Amino acid sequence: MNKKWWQKEVIYQIYPKSFYDSNNDGIGDIKGITQKLDYLQSLGITMVWICPIYQSPMDDNGYDISDYYQLNPEFGEMKDLDELIKKAKEKGIKIVLDLVINHTSDEHPWFQDLLENGENSKYKDYYILKSGKDGQPPTNWRSVFGGSVWEPLKGTDQYYFHSFGIKQPDLNWENKEVRKELYKMVNYWLDKGIAGFRVDAITFIKKDQNYDNLPADGVDGLVKCTKKTRNQPGIETFLHELNDETFSKYNCVTIGEAPGVPYEQYGDYIGENGYFSMIFDFRYADLDVASGSEWFRRVDWDVLDLKKLIFTSQKEIQKAGWGANFLENHDQNRSISKYIKEEENRNFYSATMLGAMFFYLRGTPFIYQGQEIGMTNFERKSIEEFDDISSIDQYYRSINEGFSEEEALHFINLRSRDNSRTPFHWNGENFGGFSEVTPWLGMNENYKTINASQQEQDPDSILNFYKKIIEVRQTSEASECLIYGEIEPLLEDHPTIIAYKRKLNDEEVVCYFNFSSESQKVELDHNKYDVLLNNYKEETISEQECVLKPYQALVLQVKGADLS
Ligand code: GLC
Ligand code: CA
Repeated sequence: MNKKWWQKEVIYQIYPKSFYDSNNDGIGDIKGITQKLDYLQSLGITMVWICPIYQSPMDDNGYDISDYYQLNPEFGEMKDLDELIKKAKEKGIKIVLDLVINHTSDEHPWFQDLLENGENSKYKDYYILKSGKDGQPPTNWRSVFGGSVWEPLKGTDQYYFHSFGIKQPDLNWENKEVRKELYKMVNYWLDKGIAGFRVDAITFIKKDQNYDNLPADGVDGLVKCTKKTRNQPGIETFLHELNDETFSKYNCVTIGEAPGVPYEQYGDYIGENGYFSMIFDFRYADLDVASGSEWFRRVDWDVLDLKKLIFTSQKEIQKAGWGANFLENHDQNRSISKYIKEEENRNFYSATMLGAMFFYLRGTPFIYQGQEIGMTNFERKSIEEFDDISSIDQYYRSINEGFSEEEALHFINLRSRDNSRTPFHWNGENFGGFSEVTPWLGMNENYKTINASQQEQDPDSILNFYKKIIEVRQTSEASECLIYGEIEPLLEDHPTIIAYKRKLNDEEVVCYFNFSSESQKVELDHNKYDVLLNNYKEETISEQECVLKPYQALVLQVKGADLS
């Protein structure tokens, strides 16, 4: 394997609206990020991915762009971004932006021109327009956020296509003009000195050109669109071209959000000549998500299920290239609430155990804001408290399917994207020190006990343990092995311990994570170890054996002499 610069990075994901509000209007902003660079530096991160900050009506919080070249004034001005890039660089932190090129906002001038001039618009072929059939939409496909993918184009008998929300019309990638416009824009941002892009919903850019119906899979008479709109044959031409015209001309990093790619095709995506540096695999993050007509249910799972998904993913990615590892992001609920089922076990030990478990997998680790202090889900009491368009849709969809308001609320509370979008807890003061005024989205009251400032002062906090986790990967003696080493699963059939080995030449690191509230004994292969990381103060290793305490994380470097 040829080493790449982005393999050794530690990436921190910022949801700008909720990170830090520098001018007290209740909305996080770019200056807020700049003001918190010291915090990020002291955590040990080397790169930041900022979710979309471009001009947008914010229907999907920036994933609906109305001008690719302007920033949303709520976030700041171009000079603020330039300053952030510069100041971050001085602290050894690179900036990655979000690239949303599957769709625009319906308020983008291209779409506006289409609305105004219809058939005569020069942007007519920039979007996907089709005629209805017998007063019905062109196909029976359901959009990702619910309802038909087709929306009538006012004043015509045509419909426009949207994979996501109604205000997010998909661009027509079949049109060369569109692609050229997008490549120009991508290069504009790369020329500005950013380190690269996280590439949004990229497997959606190619649609099955037959546009035919499929058997319905829900009581709404519709069928999930992804069979016809995600990773469709022909996408390789677009992705090669995108790479040739943009990314490959720079020494940049690209992280693809690429759901729906079978493992057999991972080589095309992340291999030596792949479309991206790395992609996210959502299979284990979504282990509790049901599909089909029971879409609202949470699938029950156990540690063995989780382990199988993680290791399959790791092995497949190892064969193909490089992966992007994460526990949380702005579309997921909080990891401690998801992976630790009983409330009484959500504590320092389980939070740090989870943190270390995903961190030493092979790949580049991503930390989502607030994960490093153990922020939790936030249960909302009424639909009015939600902002996430997909939760709001699911609420009404549940009610249409005959569930009570209470049941509907329960479904969305568990998985709502708003769980991770609440403002960051900086301290125990009003609004968690995020802002001096009421924030745009309701906050979890537990900021009084879970916050960064208190954890900075406590040597035994989750935050300080995360610093240690990062240090061990980045600067310890075992660093090369933890970054570049091969991964090999251990204890594959054990019901509650996840364990693996990292190996590089004659170096070896073994990692054990106890996912249970009981102590468990494990046998070790070697005699001599250096403890690299332990979330307990005591050591419990003796004579090729070790007792793992509840939710213990133990990372051991095998001593050289013991390996031969
Ligand atoms: C991606 C984003 C998500 C957004 C969607 C549509 O999945 O992560 O937040 O809503 O794309 O752009
Ligand atoms: Ca602000």
